[in-house]
Amino acid sequence: MNYEHAFHAGNPADVLKHSALTLLLLELTRRQDPLHYLETHAGSGLYTLDDPTGEWTQGIGKLASKSARRKLPELIPYLDFLPWNDGVLGEYPGSPLIAEACLREEDTVELWELKASAEQHLRGLFPKGKGRVSVHGGDGYEAVHRTKIPEGTRLVVHLDPPFEKVDEWDTILHTLVKATRKRPSAVFMLWYPVKEGPPHAGRPEELRSRLEAQKVPGVAVELTSTGGMLAPRTDVPKVRGALLGSGLLFVGAPHRAIAKLGSVLPELARSLARSEHGQAWQARWFGWL
Ligand SMILES: C[S@@+](CC[C@H](N)C(=O)[O-])C[C@H]1O[C@@H](n2cnc3c(N)ncnc32)[C@H](O)[C@@H]1O
Repeated sequence: MNYEHAFHAGNPADVLKHSALTLLLLELTRRQDPLHYLETHAGSGLYTLDDPTGEWTQGIGKLASKSARRKLPELIPYLDFLPWNDGVLGEYPGSPLIAEACLREEDTVELWELKASAEQHLRGLFPKGKGRVSVHGGDGYEAVHRTKIPEGTRLVVHLDPPFEKVDEWDTILHTLVKATRKRPSAVFMLWYPVKEGPPHAGRPEELRSRLEAQKVPGVAVELTSTGGMLAPRTDVPKVRGALLGSGLLFVGAPHRAIAKLGSVLPELARSLARSEHGQAWQARWFGWL
């Protein structure tokens, strides 16, 4: 396992994912029923932004100005949660901290991380006994099937795999097809990279049609930028295809959360698109059933 999220923390993919997560959870907490938030791939939780040329400069670094708040009012809760210091971010919180900040006293949080060092770091952020958050070392996909929630509690599953294994999409497909059948009232949010060629191309479409075939409605959005979301690096060998953008797939998400995401996307995309490509960006929506 070589994946190191610290390298990517705060990049355009993180910004889109964490913006959507905030909109989703804040909408779900408007309802009465308690939530159980399960994150399958939690990461280490908090990342130092000490590389002045890091990927975060192409993501959250572009939303540092006061005008970002003015242009993206729906994202103020997300932006306000970040530990700004005079418009500068020394650290970037991962989704476990962002989710915890959105949730209420009565909600619970179950975090899974496979990599021992990342799990240990995460545990340090949520010391044992700190109430409603539990941290687990192990496979997050399995946890989706095994987790037990009290009656009347709504399960919210966030899947954010690193996509470093060639069969990652097979596991995602298997997990979501099975879990949506077993837990029809749960809410699911999956982040995925938009890339050309194998092992990515065609897989989101396959997942959508498998869900449609078993009558599980959902919606997905892919945000891409001309020439790729991230400037190509010249200092590291190219392993796989360039990241054209990010995809988010939702099952069971409230319409208002999706509508809010739709309303922020144009401005968010404009802010994140690479200027050397004339700010060109594209948002593609997919809905089924
Ligand atoms: C994209 S990062 C997670 C970032 C985090 N969700 C966030 O937004 O802050 C993916 C993480 O998944 C972990 N991982 C890889 N395979 C896993 C698995 N099967 N179960 C749980 N964690 C896994 C990696 O070690 C890595 O820390």
